[in-house]
Amino acid sequence: MRIDIITVLPELLRSPFDESIIKRARARGIVEINIINLRDYSTDKHKSTDDYPFGGGAGMVMMIEPVYNCISHLTSHRSYDEIIYTSPDGTRFSQHLANELSMKENLIILAGHYKGIDQRIRDHLITREVSIGDYVLSGGELPAAVITDAIVRLLPGAISDAESALSDSFQDNLLAPPVYTRPAEFMGWKVPDILTGGNTPEIEKWRFEQSVSITRKKRPDLLGEES
Ligand code: ADE
Repeated sequence: MRIDIITVLPELLRSPFDESIIKRARARGIVEINIINLRDYSTDKHKSTDDYPFGGGAGMVMMIEPVYNCISHLTSHRSYDEIIYTSPDGTRFSQHLANELSMKENLIILAGHYKGIDQRIRDHLITREVSIGDYVLSGGELPAAVITDAIVRLLPGAISDAESALSDSFQDNLLAPPVYTRPAEFMGWKVPDILTGGNTPEIEKWRFEQSVSITRKKRPDLLGEES
């Protein structure tokens, strides 16, 4: 899989993809992540990517021309399944959408600036707008990192224990059960006996019951129940 992220703040995106699971997935060739500096596609001498809004008003607006040049350059080399724009007014990101996107071959994510992106980019170049939640961030870089992380960990081989991604919270509309590690007792706080008893079917049953009861308590909406 290939994910190309277009940004005016490339430095903000380097370290999230250079650690842990994502770093390993890149090293194994499971995913290629390219961070593309939008300024490289600006044609003016100041390398600007934004300008004043027509009609006046506060703030600057991301110009269509560099974005168009950048996307045209990318699409002239390969076809993309989706060109995603991160925005608080997009479709809410979810595990379901992460699963769907993880099955694509090539993705572009445009990390934009809310309020500040020429509407024609959204109307003509973008295939999907995605929000990571009902709050406004300073830019689309962190959302782009969140979306990429959620996708990459699902790719076959990205996580050593294949089951681990499948048993994530939300994967079956249930939150994950609690987990514990050594010591079995700390300051008098004990690990549930069932987990140290070695009875695998009973442990699986306990985990499922825990998942259901935790989901009912914390997120009844996931079970189709009223909160
Ligand atoms: N850009 C700014 N805030 C955002 C959000 N919540 N989701 C996606 N993109 C954003």
